[in-house]
Amino acid sequence: MIKDKNIVLGVTGGIAAYKAVEIASRLRKVGAKVHVVMTKAATSFVTELTFREITGNPVTTTMWGEVANWNVEHIALAKLADLVLIAPATANVIAKAANGIADDMLTTMLLATKAPVYFAPAMNTNMLENPVTQENIRKLESLGWHQIEPDSGYLACGVSGAGRLPEPSAIVERIEDHFIDSDSMKGLKVLVTAAGTYEPIDPVRYIGNRSSGKMGYAVAEAARNRGAEVVLVSGPSALKPPAGVRIIKLESACDMRDAVLAEYPDTDIVIKAAAVADYRVRNVAENKIKKKDEELVLVLDKNPDILKELGQLKKPNQVLVGFAAETRNLMEYAQEKLQKKNLDMIVANDVSKPGAGFNTDTNLVKIITRDSDVKELPMMDKKRIAEVIVDMAKEKLQEKCRG
Ligand code: CTP
Repeated sequence: MIKDKNIVLGVTGGIAAYKAVEIASRLRKVGAKVHVVMTKAATSFVTELTFREITGNPVTTTMWGEVANWNVEHIALAKLADLVLIAPATANVIAKAANGIADDMLTTMLLATKAPVYFAPAMNTNMLENPVTQENIRKLESLGWHQIEPDSGYLACGVSGAGRLPEPSAIVERIEDHFIDSDSMKGLKVLVTAAGTYEPIDPVRYIGNRSSGKMGYAVAEAARNRGAEVVLVSGPSALKPPAGVRIIKLESACDMRDAVLAEYPDTDIVIKAAAVADYRVRNVAENKIKKKDEELVLVLDKNPDILKELGQLKKPNQVLVGFAAETRNLMEYAQEKLQKKNLDMIVANDVSKPGAGFNTDTNLVKIITRDSDVKELPMMDKKRIAEVIVDMAKEKLQEKCRG
């Protein structure tokens, strides 16, 4: 839990520095102790006084100021920190940190701390996309720093593009996530399927669907954050798998079935977020099909229903969670799938609603349990929804284990 944790908030000199005030305020509201370190440039955007009032703690801006702590200040802060958050992180501070330059209070403290570091890059799109900046970001990530990826949108420099600091609420939620009970699912194996499947037509073409994998990847991350052993079975997706999960990448529904069945026997919770193609092409062409006729007929065979099979094989202490993506009769179809596939829970989402379903960052879902309880969530970020799903699945498992 984040309560009483010491968060060192590094504020650097970008226009988004004003948003750091709200970040500090929100962190304090959720019970964290916030210690702000500002770069000189940041003080041109927001005053030290603002942060002092908001956090109730002294604000550090220089190596040579009045001493608030008789231990060497940068070392004291570096040691005190349970987590360091740099928001906004300019290209300059990212470059310095990636190269071990320590020429002010913030960068010196960064070099001295062993605490986990989160950084939220915010800058002009060209600066962000510059290969030098990208390399620096990658270097920090490879060293274990956590990037809070910038949003796209209207930037202060008058253009639209990537580089906006995410909303303070989203940043604070990410930090809260870091402190969730990271042991609550220790010892449990969670199997997650994600993204759509590709069913080949010939060596260069396939039948697929619009699933990006965002929901399933978020579920895998939420289970990982709670200490579970996570296996992520994924169809093609552009997403980076969360660190620490075992990824099995494949393409077709039949391959997904084989992978899932092999992992199933010792799995405690299965969450099947994948959009599995219901049909596959009967005679996959060995060579690229050339266009010659006016009409091309593909014969499709029904794919195995993986989830249904899992439902049939389910042992008393296994929890099975399915998804139902519908464009009409949401509740009716979802209830039907819950029964037919012998599930413990189904996440029903109306993919016809704007902001819900495929390829969006948000989703609008109702979670239905076997005892017909319905939990209706508001439009939420997929990461938050993933947490609710994982927590509910864990509770279901506990109920089952209690008998
Ligand atoms: N599913 C599966 N194997 C399939 C099809 C679906 O495991 N061949 C799983 C999905 O991962 C999802 C759930 O079943 O968790 C429901 O998928 P959905 O496509 O909504 O439903 P279908 O069962 O395919 O039914 P329909 O296409 O008629 O809506």
